[in-house]
Amino acid sequence: FQPKLLAGLHVLLTAGPTSEPVDPVRVLSNRSSGKTGYALARAAREAGARVTLITGATFLPVPRGVTALSVMTARQMHDAVMASAADADIFIAVAAVADWRVKNVSTQKLKKTSEGGGAPLMEFEPNPDILAEVAKLENGPWCVGFAAETEKLAEHAEAKRQRKGIPLLVGNLAHKVMDADTTELVLFDEQGAHPLPAGDKLEAARRLIAEIAARFPA
Ligand code: C5P
Repeated sequence: FQPKLLAGLHVLLTAGPTSEPVDPVRVLSNRSSGKTGYALARAAREAGARVTLITGATFLPVPRGVTALSVMTARQMHDAVMASAADADIFIAVAAVADWRVKNVSTQKLKKTSEGGGAPLMEFEPNPDILAEVAKLENGPWCVGFAAETEKLAEHAEAKRQRKGIPLLVGNLAHKVMDADTTELVLFDEQGAHPLPAGDKLEAARRLIAEIAARFPA
């Protein structure tokens, strides 16, 4: 009898993009298909965990046995995560959260004032950093972060891991994995960088769940 790797544990994940309103019909968003986060939710469930997925808008079906809650904005995602964080054993932040939201959201649809001119001016303010906040919780879950970079992966990813104060950060190069069904992940922990074999996102997710289970302090 082989016990399941995450049996008895509650895994909380974020996935997909957030969308920040500009006016009632327009949003600013991040490019994220949600494929990696959904694959991880599925793999965590297969490993025996109870799984809560807080998700921005995606076109993906919710994996069987996973409890999903849909949100739109970073602040909604923040509130939904905080409501579950104290009860979670492991938090995996995969979502591409918008770093800023529009400060001066218009209550009416912005209109073109004249042909070719009159572009609106937007003011921004920072969104809460969900992962950093969960990582600071006393008796909070064991945290895993993600970083999609466009260059200098090792440098940026390790700096991010330390800045967020988390034991494990998973890095990838955006141009290699965005929208794709395959991925190439590198794990960064206290011991250094550990590349995982490149391949299908579900296979990579199962492998990553095994790596998380091996590191999770029992
Ligand atoms: O440094 P950066 O914020 O880009 O780090 C990315 C990691 O932090 C990802 O795991 C992402 O899900 C998480 N994050 C978050 N809330 C934010 C921004 C990023 O949880 N506002």
